Amino acid sequence: MADTSLLFLVLILLPPLALLLTLTILVRPRPVKIPIKGRHVFITGGSSGIGLALAHQAASEGARVSILARKADKLEEARNSIRLSTGIDVAVFSVDVRDSDAVQRAIDEADPIDILICNQGVFIPQELELQSLETVKFMIDVNLMGTFHLIKSALPNMKNRGDRRPASIAIMSSQAGQVGIYGYTAYSASKFGLRGLGEALQQEVIADNIHVSLIFPPDTETPGFLEETKTRPLLTSIIAASSGAMKADEVAKKALDGIKSGRFIVPCNLDGFLLSIATAGLSPQRSPLMAFIEVVSAGALRIGALFFQWNWYGSIARWHAQKTRA
Ligand SMILES: NC(=O)c1ccc[n+]([C@@H]2O[C@H](COP(=O)([O-])OP(=O)(O)OC[C@H]3O[C@@H](n4cnc5c(N)ncnc54)[C@H](OP(=O)(O)O)[C@@H]3O)[C@@H](O)[C@H]2O)c1
Repeated sequence: MADTSLLFLVLILLPPLALLLTLTILVRPRPVKIPIKGRHVFITGGSSGIGLALAHQAASEGARVSILARKADKLEEARNSIRLSTGIDVAVFSVDVRDSDAVQRAIDEADPIDILICNQGVFIPQELELQSLETVKFMIDVNLMGTFHLIKSALPNMKNRGDRRPASIAIMSSQAGQVGIYGYTAYSASKFGLRGLGEALQQEVIADNIHVSLIFPPDTETPGFLEETKTRPLLTSIIAASSGAMKADEVAKKALDGIKSGRFIVPCNLDGFLLSIATAGLSPQRSPLMAFIEVVSAGALRIGALFFQWNWYGSIARWHAQKTRA
């Protein structure tokens, strides 16, 4: 009887263990750790919200920190608050990421950079039919082109850095960069674009021991988010309704931990974790355990995703029916 139970247990455990072993051999790029203590972390959008929280945390972990944003007074405020809480003086750069020459000058002055965090972003939700092309272009220029400007400027020196330890390029996307949401046509396009940038870039820089991380925060309590909620279309709020916004500090901690572990996809909460698995597609995966979870849960998560679409399209249909009746 005991022999039969043992055989049964072995038969049950063998397939998952074989799968885990196969995935351990298979996953690429290989796992990596990226130290930040004593290294230079350059954070754009570092004067507010998630970027400011990232700057506080990186400084408190012993990194040399630089922050970049447009408004000089907000940068000074940020510098003072970081000095007050950590005793560390950060370098500040007052630059608009849409100006590629100014970005190049700031990056050259800040050089060498070990960890580049492209976090700047603007989000203005509105149905495309109502949104001006000027506003669409503004979001694409700051979120997507601004990130190109930063990476293009930093890459040559990052590749030729003296410190040959692993380096990182981290890109702040959004859950709206994993799934399209009503009212976010331009914002989602800019954030989905960052995913394509990151996936292709990782292949181009892996030989230089540079590791790309894409961070996907949910709604997060920041000055930018507060502004955004004032103009959100009602349907956006209904569809994007979540269990509540995260704190900027919590998102920054998840982001920094993800960067230090060299994770390619960095979710920030449980919803984000499920969303990352559901949208894993052909993206790189360094962790055999995460690859295992992706493989075994793929079918169930697809059913979950279809349920969400059913719910969202139901909300849209009810909204239009109500409008027609009114
Ligand atoms: N908060 C959320 O709910 C949420 C959710 C998902 C993803 N995200 C993403 O997280 C990132 C940070 O968002 P946040 O909520 O912390 O925003 P925030 O509080 O509005 O801060 C945005 C930062 O970006 C800077 N910035 C904006 N435009 C810039 C430009 N043209 N050039 C240089 N710097 C610029 C701002 O400074 P200046 O205005 O002085 O330039 C500020 O430091 C963004 O990429 C956003 O898309 C946020």
